[in-house]
Amino acid sequence: MRITVIGTGYLGTTHAACMAELGFEVLGLDIVPEKIEALSAGRIPMYEPGLDELLRKHLVGMPGSTGRLRFTTSWEEVGAFGDMHFVCTNTPQRRGEFACDMSYVESAFDLLAPHLDRPTLVVGKSTVPVGSAERLADRLAERAPAGAAAEVAWNPEFLREGYAVNDTLHPDRIVVGVRSEAAEARMREVYTPLLDAGTPLVVTDFATAELVKAAANSFLATKISFINAMAEVCEASGADVVQLAGALAYDERIGGKFLNSGLGFGGGCLPKDIRAFMARAGELGADQALTFLREVDSINMRRRSRMVELAREQCGGGFLGRRVAVLGAAFKPNSDDVRDSPALNVAGQIQLQGAQVTVYDPKAMDNARKLFPGLSFAESALEAATGAHVVLHLTEWQEFREMDPRDLAGVVSERRILDGRNVLDPQRWREAGWTYRALGRPS
Ligand code: UGA
Repeated sequence: MRITVIGTGYLGTTHAACMAELGFEVLGLDIVPEKIEALSAGRIPMYEPGLDELLRKHLVGMPGSTGRLRFTTSWEEVGAFGDMHFVCTNTPQRRGEFACDMSYVESAFDLLAPHLDRPTLVVGKSTVPVGSAERLADRLAERAPAGAAAEVAWNPEFLREGYAVNDTLHPDRIVVGVRSEAAEARMREVYTPLLDAGTPLVVTDFATAELVKAAANSFLATKISFINAMAEVCEASGADVVQLAGALAYDERIGGKFLNSGLGFGGGCLPKDIRAFMARAGELGADQALTFLREVDSINMRRRSRMVELAREQCGGGFLGRRVAVLGAAFKPNSDDVRDSPALNVAGQIQLQGAQVTVYDPKAMDNARKLFPGLSFAESALEAATGAHVVLHLTEWQEFREMDPRDLAGVVSERRILDGRNVLDPQRWREAGWTYRALGRPS
């Protein structure tokens, strides 16, 4: 079976390299020629641990590679090559609206359709509003020369950035929405190595498969906002949210994962997915069912404002003339993704209110510069902290966790650290003479 992967973002590039790793011949397509040039030369246009090695292991033309993976911008070539086509295009939030922008997915299906002249399966992996797969399947059958033999399956993806390769090769579960036994059989065939390794397979209809994804991300977002709501109550009552979460985690029904309180969730997925889910539920007349997600979103956004307030307090009540160091720009560690990054959001707000903000991130500097050209950027945590009145720890890179508070103490103007991710050791910082503050923890 020969496979194509349409859309070479975080999801598509990872999926393409991993399918080559599973032994398939893979052709990846993107409409942006620069991306295809970079990938064809063995360069990944983003930071994802382990992905560049995997790309070069399989990329055609690389010394010692299997040659199973290559890239193109030609739809014709994709249509001729593939027995199965994975659509991995993105579905960002529409400007000024909660709903997601389906235009990239729709155009991928429409551009592929005229080249499908033999029985084939087009597998959607993008996160889409429930009901999309059915609509896209009908449209594909109308437009493809193969007619109804050009089938669709929906196979949502649950990978996390920073762990994308591992999550793809060792998923918790595989969910496939299908309309025929033949489609199910093809999906079982393509994922045979993973199924043989014991990965559970859940076969559903289209709507359920689409909803599993929306529900999973909504649950994760709710869990984070739940603990951040507890952090607000802890702040009001003098309790400690980190101890509270630790105690909750002993209850197996609750569990400790995704219960890290702090600056809250960001990135290209959770925020836009819960909004798109609310928008879709509204269209379906089920908006009441998801009104709680509005609150989940509000709690999350309040964390950012609260961090700005805490920084203002630490600056003596105002930002004018103050220097603020921000450690972290990516929306989470082990990623260079700055989409809806809580760290940059806070940095930007503080800068707009008159402080001189200097940001350092181990991997996301280029992306951060593009998004917030008005901020200053430093080459190291020490450089960012030089002369700072307050240091904000906003993305929990290992490098920051391991920082020696005594090193930083030598360069700052005042020893004040705000831990936006609740992972630094308060005692260690206090012993080195710092004022340590965090969201949801006593001062
Ligand atoms: C998320 C889901 O975890 C994946 O399962 C899903 O496939 C993906 O979205 C997607 O829809 O494509 P990702 O956005 O890579 O993955 O990042 P997460 O690890 O979920 O983190 C999201 C945000 O929540 C980050 O800003 C992180 O800092 C924050 N977070 C996470 C917390 O604030 N507390 C936690 O306990 C966990």
